[in-house]
Amino acid sequence: MQNRTLGIIGGTGWLGRAIAQALLDTGFIRPDRLLVSNRSGTHTFEPPVRLLADNQQLVDLSDIVVLSIRPEQFRQLQINARGKLVISLMAGVPATAIRAATGAEVVVRAMPNAAVEIRQSFTPWCCPASLCEQDRALVQRLFECVGTADEVPDEDCIDYLSALSGTGPALAAMLHQALMNQAVAAGIPAAIAQRAAQGVVVGGGQLLASHDPRQMIENLMAYRGVTAAVLQSMADQGIEAMVGRAVQEGAQVARRGM
Ligand SMILES: NC(=O)c1ccc[n+]([C@@H]2O[C@H](COP(=O)([O-])OP(=O)(O)OC[C@H]3O[C@@H](n4cnc5c(N)ncnc54)[C@H](OP(=O)(O)O)[C@@H]3O)[C@@H](O)[C@H]2O)c1
Repeated sequence: MQNRTLGIIGGTGWLGRAIAQALLDTGFIRPDRLLVSNRSGTHTFEPPVRLLADNQQLVDLSDIVVLSIRPEQFRQLQINARGKLVISLMAGVPATAIRAATGAEVVVRAMPNAAVEIRQSFTPWCCPASLCEQDRALVQRLFECVGTADEVPDEDCIDYLSALSGTGPALAAMLHQALMNQAVAAGIPAAIAQRAAQGVVVGGGQLLASHDPRQMIENLMAYRGVTAAVLQSMADQGIEAMVGRAVQEGAQVARRGM
């Protein structure tokens, strides 16, 4: 970051705080170059990180401004960010709306997820063609502080991925619930059903970090055993199409705007 200052509006929230902490811990930014703002005045950062109540003051003191407030809170936000690099984490707020409301010419949209907390977020981001190579590299490195990141071609990708990776733990949690509830309905004691579902979602997820999922399915199908029967039944019932429709429904919400 050299001598540039970064301000996070909403830097005490779920996402903003985790990102701020990761930027400090990884040495991406010096504490005296980091500013955060909120309305309540409460925070847990140590000086020289500064908490400001005045968003315009944060913008004036920052070279890069991260918007980490909720989309509905953005409607009340009044800042002039002309000349600043603005990075928005907000779902469903297009760059044109951010440019119009803030006066910023250069707006990057990014979509991390709740796994920023454990620095395992996947963060797609996109930017206008006018972003210089140095700032492109900076945005990529910034989001690599909380996991992995990819530049994507356009905002439509961001809207789609908001409903996919932006959901973070939600899809895995839904699978966990379904597995657990169905096991209980089948007569398995609740505590055991919970641990069994946890083993699938968490244990299985960790194993996939080092295995190719397609290869894993092919190998297990080749056994022609119990697992193959479960997988075949899910495939026959159209799991891929169902997942596709669900994600498209979410993407439509993001595309319509919030
Ligand atoms: N959480 C996720 O999993 C996730 C995933 C992808 C994208 N996002 C996006 O990330 C953004 C932040 O989400 P979040 O979950 O971190 O929300 P959050 O926990 O509610 O954090 C929002 C923060 O903004 C502050 N704030 C609200 N209005 C403000 C204002 N006018 N000026 C300054 N600060 C203000 C709030 O603090 P005060 O109340 O003290 O002002 C709070 O600290 C959202 O736009 C969301 O779409 C979130």
